[in-house]
Amino acid sequence: MSHHPDPAGFRAAASRFSTGVTVVTSRSADGAPAGMTANSFTTVSMQPPTVLVSLKRGRTWQAVTESRRYAVNVLGADDVAICRHFAGAPLSQGAPSLIDCEGFFLLPQAIAQFGCEVVSAIEIADHTLFIGEVRWCRHQDGLPLAFYASRFRNGLGAEILPSDALAYPAEGWTI
Ligand SMILES: Cc1cc2nc3c(=O)[nH]c(=O)nc-3n(C[C@H](O)[C@H](O)[C@H](O)COP(=O)(O)O)c2cc1C
Repeated sequence: MSHHPDPAGFRAAASRFSTGVTVVTSRSADGAPAGMTANSFTTVSMQPPTVLVSLKRGRTWQAVTESRRYAVNVLGADDVAICRHFAGAPLSQGAPSLIDCEGFFLLPQAIAQFGCEVVSAIEIADHTLFIGEVRWCRHQDGLPLAFYASRFRNGLGAEILPSDALAYPAEGWTI
């Protein structure tokens, strides 16, 4: 078996890990918002509350690198157009409105929002892992947008087991 999969094979295999979809925003040096779609969002630890995003070099990367702050906006199932806008396919009617909240740029319809300060930035290949300590967060009910096999999905499938049937370890899982 090859230790170096071809890019298409790697992309196809990686795409079988289903994720949610977020828009990561930050403040550029001139004060303007920058934002990009990212599904690399991961929770890292509960104590202190810590997350990470993996961003390639670009406008948002630049803003996060300079401001050392970012917000993560978790998209709902109705937000495919917003996802595409922040992935380089701008909406014809103009940019979605972002609210400036204590220096973080937020999408009001996001089903969860995290305001983060960068505590570590690790460069890997052509990406940087921005590890952020969560200064505040909020959430609201809503169907999540999911991404699987390079397709957008309505993120709530049927529940497989009643959650109380799982034997949760007392400690060990981050979330
Ligand atoms: C579903 C989806 C997920 C993406 N996730 C990431 C990601 O985690 N990291 C990344 O660097 N780019 C990701 N991208 C690509 C960026 O959103 C895209 O390159 C964007 O235009 C970069 O914006 P900027 O460099 O102008 O800030 C994703 C795109 C899509 C459609």
